[in-house]
Parts: sequence; structure tokens; C-alpha cells
Amino acid sequence: MTTRSPRHFLQFKDLSREEFDYLFERISWIKARFKAYEPYHPMFDRTLVMIFEKASTRTRLSFEAGMQQLGGSAIYLNTRDSQLGRGEPVEDAAQVISRMCDLVMIRTFEQEIIERFAANSRVPVINGLTNEYHPCQILADIHTFIEHRGPIRGRTVAWIGDSNNMCNTWLQAAELLDFNVHVSTPPGYEVEAERAGLYGTGHFEQFADPVDACRGADLVTTDVWTSMGFEAENEARMKAFADWQVDADMMAVAAPEALFMHCLPAHRGEEVSGEVIDGPHSVVWDEAENRLHAQKALMEYLLLGRLQG
Ligand code: CP
Ligand code: NVA
Repeated sequence: MTTRSPRHFLQFKDLSREEFDYLFERISWIKARFKAYEPYHPMFDRTLVMIFEKASTRTRLSFEAGMQQLGGSAIYLNTRDSQLGRGEPVEDAAQVISRMCDLVMIRTFEQEIIERFAANSRVPVINGLTNEYHPCQILADIHTFIEHRGPIRGRTVAWIGDSNNMCNTWLQAAELLDFNVHVSTPPGYEVEAERAGLYGTGHFEQFADPVDACRGADLVTTDVWTSMGFEAENEARMKAFADWQVDADMMAVAAPEALFMHCLPAHRGEEVSGEVIDGPHSVVWDEAENRLHAQKALMEYLLLGRLQG
């Protein structure tokens, strides 16, 4: 059980550029061992608790499989079947849960909930998605970019669609890792710098026309128009976002070697055309797989620190 003050990953900027450099190398190392079927069990006897207040396929699977592959075990809790859904204070839940495990991952609504949990946790807490951020996904996405195209520093990412948890996290990553983000959202859905947790605006530019945002971009990326928790706005969003579908015309003005990413699940015919997500620029399956390797490296780092070899 951890006794020193735990390191959390609640938003992207909780780690430094230098720590991300280490993590990108570590992800490659862990992935190569996994691909070679070499057992690696640094988490023997360690337990991860995963708390889900929203649905998940990739995040649950990658954390659960990842922890088992590292020699530990993972326990799944959700709001429906635990006392969390019956009004037990977050602070009390954090005190109890963190006395029984080594690591906690939470997917919830407001960022404030995970911050209150972390403030009362004895063990590292990882953000598995909140309304504001999705840092584990961006860790995997940037690693995927590096694998395909080399360092992301100085490159341009075009974000098309909703200024949601994914967009906010891309913007934080751009400030930290020194790349640019071109954002195009429909009117009324623009980036809110404070909600995105930005300390400067030097790494992003907003565009009224999504085609202009894609011009020359090294990576074009998007996400659902209606995120979990915002379902009541779905009808209005479908109308407002209709011209923000990433399609072949947008990819045509991006850099010739541009990649397309989507955190998934995707809605073909809404935020992206089938032609793009299933086309030659798309690396969405590599991106999804890298959630596994990225999460393993992150859990190892938060729990065991920097390791050699
Ligand atoms: N991208 C992602 O987080 O997927 P899930 O919602 O399936 O976990
Ligand atoms: N923005 C989406 C991401 C899902 C992985 C949501 O929050 O629902």
C-alpha cells in the first residue's frame, strides 16, 4: 500500500513534458514486450479499482486487461450497484476505497468530483474521462501520432466539432508539448479557455470554417457531437453540427500525409463520413489498441515511478 503522497493524473497538465517523454518511450517498451509474448508482471499483487459512472468499452477493457497483463487485478464498480449511487459522499468513498487498493481509475461527470476523490485518496487516481477532460485518450493518441509520423512538436492538429473533453485535453497537450491546434466548432460551441484549463492561447486558433481549420493539418480529429451526459441536447446539436462532419473535402486540404483519428465510439454519417474513418488516412484501430499500452505505462509510472529497461 502506498504511503507517500500519491501522484494523480486528473488532467493532462498534471504531468510535465519530460514525464511524457519518458512515458512515450515506456509505452513503446511495454508494447514491444506484449507483442513478443514476453510476460511482464511489475504489478504483482497490486489492485486497481475502476469506478464507472458512465458507459465504456475501451477504457474498461484496456485498464482491466492492462492491469491483469501487468500481474495485478482489477475490480469494476459502477454507480448502479455500489453505494456511490445512493448518496455516499465522494470524500468518504475515497477514504474507504483507497485503503483497500493501490490505484483508482474513475469515469464520472464533473471534474470537481474526481478532484474531491483524489484529495481524499491515499493512492493515485486516474481520470478515465470527465465532462471536461479525457487525458488517457490523448496520451494514447499522441503516442499513435509519434509511432506513425515522429515527434508531435511543431505539428498541427485540426479539431473539428464539439469543444468537449477531448478538445480541451488536446489543447492542454498542445501547450505542454508545443504543437498547434486548429479548432472549428459551430457558433455557440466554442472553446472556453478556463474550462479547458488553458494558461495561454499561443497554441490554438479558432476557425469559423472547418475546411480552413484542416488546411495543412498533420492530423485531423473529431468526436461525437453529443457526449455522455449531454443527451438532452442531442436534437439541437444534430442541427447545429451538420456542417462539421469530417469528410473527404476536409482531408483533401490537410497535409498529404495527414492522419485521421477518432477516440471512438464513432457515428458514421454524423461527425465523420464512412469514407474518412474507413479510408487510408485513418489510424483509429491503432489508436484504440494504444489505449492498452498507454494505460499500462501510466499505471506503472504512477505506482512504481521511473523504471529502467
Ligand atoms: N474512447 C473511449 O474512451 O472509449 P470508451 O467510452 O469505450 O471507453
Ligand atoms: N466525448 C465523448 C468521448 C467518449 C469516449 C464523451 O464524453 O461521451
